[in-house]
Amino acid sequence: MSDKLKVTIDGIPVEVAPGTTILNAARQIGGDIVPPAMCYYSKLEGSGGKCRTCIVKVTKGSEKDPRPMPKLVASCRTTVMDGMEVQNITSPEVIEARKGVVEMLLINHPLDCPICDQAGECHLQDLSYEHGVATTRYEFDRRTFERQDIGDKIQLHMNRCILCYRCVFTADQITNQRVHGILGRGDHAEISTYIEKAIDNDFSGNVIDVCPVGALTDKTFRFKNRVWFTKPVEAHRDCPTCSGKVTLWYKGEEVLRVTARKDEFGEVEEFICNTCRFDKKHTNDWVIEGPRNVSHKSVISANHYETLTPLPVIKKNPELMEANKQQLERATKL
Ligand code: SF4
Ligand code: FES
Repeated sequence: MSDKLKVTIDGIPVEVAPGTTILNAARQIGGDIVPPAMCYYSKLEGSGGKCRTCIVKVTKGSEKDPRPMPKLVASCRTTVMDGMEVQNITSPEVIEARKGVVEMLLINHPLDCPICDQAGECHLQDLSYEHGVATTRYEFDRRTFERQDIGDKIQLHMNRCILCYRCVFTADQITNQRVHGILGRGDHAEISTYIEKAIDNDFSGNVIDVCPVGALTDKTFRFKNRVWFTKPVEAHRDCPTCSGKVTLWYKGEEVLRVTARKDEFGEVEEFICNTCRFDKKHTNDWVIEGPRNVSHKSVISANHYETLTPLPVIKKNPELMEANKQQLERATKL
């Protein structure tokens, strides 16, 4: 007997190992049916279950107990059962509920995409385009905080934080002692000031990459350029601290920023160290591998030389030129 479990998501069957969550089963299928995830991060132990963007409808619990689950469930926290049937984009109920989740996430999040450094690579921005409504029903003032420098390279702007806890889990994972957490609860919850203490760690810059919104940003890149005007290029170096595999973001010949490489689900493939991220900003620090493939849906691909169809150019056609010359000669003789 196979020890794999069969689950069907939006009508597409897949066999997965026991213990797999619905979200990860959907990721094994890939494409549009993968639920969005604002807090789950496969590289961060314990993450997920906070944002509710990944909700799905379980229409059949399992082969043994085919009853549907009474409420929508968080797919990042629900493991599959054999014979389970799930709906994501095929369920109008899920789409409607997700719209509500996005509205909730945007209650305190400022709509300042035009001036936010994360614009163009912000998961909340994408979600609000897909599911958001153009107006807000919220009549109260949004929560506001002072910007906070976390060391000289990272800035925290709590106004934009959606309390996904990813940076907390990153800090937990890279340090031996917990130095960073969320203080207060409900409307008063905020990333604790103790995050400043995590800065001593060589890997602290990764909190920038895991943040799905523009709450944690790279001060060495802030306001230098819009991300869609930059060219991402894969590169590596022999680094004693990390794998040294990064993406360089170029403007002309200048490396404006260095980030970890992200996979199709927007998660970093490998965490990189602060030396690679902040101190190696010259082309000759790196071995260049080539242009990074960017999803055609991403705004970054708008100026990407790989995905653009070649511009029409006027080619020299010797035959046509000769014919034109002969015609001109005939015309002048007449
Ligand atoms: S700062 Fe960013 S990564 Fe940290 S909890 Fe807020 S949104 Fe999540
Ligand atoms: S990704 Fe599942 S609750 Fe946030």
